[in-house]
Amino acid sequence: MLAMFLCSCADEGNDAMAQATMSQKLYITIDGVSHTATLYDNAATRELVSRLENGNITVTLNSSGGFEIWGALGFSLPTSNEQITAQPGDVILYNGSNICLMYGSNSWSYTRLGHIDNLSENELRTFLKAGESNISVTLSLQPASTGPDGNTLVIYYSYTGNCNEIVQTLTSQIDADVVRIQPYDKTQQYEANGYAIGMQLLEAINANPNSPDSYPAIDPVDVDLAGYDNFIIVVPLWWSQMAAIMQTYLFNHGPEMAGKNVALIVSSHSSGISGVVADAKRLIPDAEWMGDALWINSANHSNRAAMIEEWLADIDYSAISTIIDDINIDRHSAPQGIYNLNGQRLTKAPESGIYIENGVKKIVTK
Ligand SMILES: Cc1cc2nc3c(=O)[nH]c(=O)nc-3n(C[C@H](O)[C@H](O)[C@H](O)COP(=O)(O)O)c2cc1C
Repeated sequence: MLAMFLCSCADEGNDAMAQATMSQKLYITIDGVSHTATLYDNAATRELVSRLENGNITVTLNSSGGFEIWGALGFSLPTSNEQITAQPGDVILYNGSNICLMYGSNSWSYTRLGHIDNLSENELRTFLKAGESNISVTLSLQPASTGPDGNTLVIYYSYTGNCNEIVQTLTSQIDADVVRIQPYDKTQQYEANGYAIGMQLLEAINANPNSPDSYPAIDPVDVDLAGYDNFIIVVPLWWSQMAAIMQTYLFNHGPEMAGKNVALIVSSHSSGISGVVADAKRLIPDAEWMGDALWINSANHSNRAAMIEEWLADIDYSAISTIIDDINIDRHSAPQGIYNLNGQRLTKAPESGIYIENGVKKIVTK
């Protein structure tokens, strides 16, 4: 055990983990699909962020060497080159003016910029279009909005059908697209043997929540979260936690909901839901939470229509999801409240950026 520990510390690829990171995420968008990257805090990334504050940067990258897509940024950044072994997911500055997005590994004298969050090597190869040329890559500080308007996606998992019924009731009350998360292995009986399999899956996650290997495999989900502004997660409680199957999806995609409105509905037999709420906050760390989660249990499941209606009113859902058709409004006829430039209502003013408050454009810089 000690030998393994020493060995991994000496691994060049893990040196990066020791570096300070920025709270500001980098969004990388390719063909309408966005993923976040965590940025290291160094002179190069500070300069990059300052350039991105003036607008998104789109570059054309090409596959090379079987391990990266790379190309010219069009400007230079300060270097702190060192001989490193870049790993899959690393975002690298090469020769001061080129960006490399790694889907394999390579040893060279590089400056580290960051690391793409939570994608496996296979997912990286797909996202980065490994092997292709002339790939248009947009770098930004905010999620790229590819949808025409603000809108809502309901994401749910259901093993015995209760969450499925909740989603049907919910979507009879709001307009939303729906996506169902399914386990890859559909033969598992999570309730068998005193709910033992469900418990084992959760124990594996709890033992190592930051490792993708801890999460049970799920079917691929073909939906681009960048096109949505609001998300409602509907999920069963297992052993006072979030059902493991949904945890896999949120582990992979929760970071893409950063800065967006997210709400949670939890179905349990009778247990309280604070553990599920904690799991949701861990897996979607930068969400704008729409009020408190709704808890539906076996005693009130049949009353869910009234409960959902009341909860939607409590979280002010209709205001949050309302789209203003034209933000060029004058302040006398303006809708009251705070809106982003997509016309989507916010629960509070952003810490930085441009927003509309009671019809008046505001700009805040940090
Ligand atoms: C593996 C497993 C563990 C569960 N653990 C709990 C529990 O600790 N407390 C509880 O009240 N309900 C528990 N339940 C019951 C579910 O939370 C409840 O039946 C829920 O409505 C199921 O939603 P679904 O039908 O959409 O799968 C568990 C169910 C399973 C399958």
